[in-house]
Parts: sequence; C-alpha cells; structure tokens
Amino acid sequence: MDIFGVDIGGSGVKGAPVDTASGELAAERKRIDTPLPSTPSAVAAVIGEIADHHQWSGPAGIAVPGVVQRGVVRTAANIDDGWVDIDAVAALGGRFDGVTVVNDADAAALAEVRFGAGRGESGVIVVLTFGTGIGSAVINDGKLLPNTEFGHLEFHGGAAELYAASRLVEGEAEAGIGTEEWIDRVNEYLAYLETLLWPDLFVIGGGISKRFEMYGEMLVAQAEIRPAALRNDAGIVGAALAALEEMASNE
Ligand code: BGC
Repeated sequence: MDIFGVDIGGSGVKGAPVDTASGELAAERKRIDTPLPSTPSAVAAVIGEIADHHQWSGPAGIAVPGVVQRGVVRTAANIDDGWVDIDAVAALGGRFDGVTVVNDADAAALAEVRFGAGRGESGVIVVLTFGTGIGSAVINDGKLLPNTEFGHLEFHGGAAELYAASRLVEGEAEAGIGTEEWIDRVNEYLAYLETLLWPDLFVIGGGISKRFEMYGEMLVAQAEIRPAALRNDAGIVGAALAALEEMASNE
C-alpha cells in the first residue's frame, strides 16, 4: 500500500508517496525550502503544495522535528515556537485521508529498523540524525522508545546539538567548524552517549548521511557504527510506516 510520507526539516520540507511494502519511494520526492517563519500554517501550506505536486489526497504520515505526544507537538527547538502544543494532526491533516504525526528521528528509526541499517538486528540500536539539530531514537529488539531527545542532553555547557549538529559543517551556522573538528565533537558525543546507554549499534542518519563516505571511517565508538541505509529519505519512509502502523492498530 502506498502512503504519503512527509519530513519537515529545519531547511527543507520533503515528501513522496512511499511503497510501505518495500520501503521505497513510489515517486521522486519533492522538496521545498522550509518557509520562514516556519509556523504551522506556513508549513501546512508547503505540505499542501508537495501533496498537490504528487496529486495526493490519501493517507499520510508526517515527521516533525519535535516531541510528539498523541499527535500534539511538545517542543520546537529548530522550528517556529508556534508549534508548541499544536494539535498537528488537526493542523496538517485537513487535505489527507487520515494523518499520523511522528517525531522525525523516531520516523527515521522505524524505517531503518524495518528496511535499512537495523533490519533484522536484535539488541539496543541508537539512531542519531544529524542536521539542523540532532535527533535521537532508541530501539530495543525492534521496538521503539519514542521521543528520546538526546540532542538536548547538556554537553559542553549547552544542548549537545548546539555542539555537534552537522549544520555546523554545512555552512548553515554562523560560527562554522571544519569536518575534522566536527568528527571529534561527534566522537566525543558518541562516547558520552555510550556511558549512558550502551547500545549495540549506532545508526547515523540525517542530512549528513549522504556524505558518510567522507567521514564514516573517522567515527569511533565501542558499538558498531553504520550509516542510515535509507540516507536522508528515512524520515519520509518512516513517517509513512508510522501511519501504516496506526491504521493497522485502529482496525
Ligand atoms: C528536536 C528533536 C528532533 C531533532 C532533529 C531536535 O532539536 O528536539 O525532536 O528530532 O532536533 O530534527
């Protein structure tokens, strides 16, 4: 079954129909810059454009860069503050035949466990998405613990994502750093997470995952480290999978 997947990021909103049986995009994804300010109504309009582009009015899953409890967004570190306490299902669902809203890193993890780097793996997997912020997801024996926010652990005097997000090396940040400095910071962050979580596997995703060849070998941890197999599409695919799961549980 195809379900529309949308991933709202700090710099772009991306969407495509997803073949939920194969985890592949059923059509090329469409990306539009995240509007500024990125208010719920401005983002809803962009999602509408993306859905129009694909002539889609069926069910959808939408990944947002914040904590989501029962469809309500609770935090908004890298998106307009207006998202906090918004019922995102009501705000974004109008044009779809049912919508499920999920945290973006949780979505990426669902996709990686089902179709990507975590497929068939037991034990504890920590998925980290590096982009404008740092998203985290924890999976134990295939089951997700939702809404972990390890990008917001205090690290070096502030949120870890301010210290180690990949926006720092991608020209998005005012005070950018070089790749080696960024790798050192990520390694330090992974070591810190390992003192708290002891995962068997780290999966590294987000916008930076498309360049994993360039830096992957320099990442070190006690746990194995793999790149997200679905790369930056994991959020789109996982959002659609979350919608499928919710539809199945409502039947
Ligand atoms: C948010 C997370 C999100 C991550 C990646 C963080 O700032 O708090 O919920 O998963 O950014 O977008």
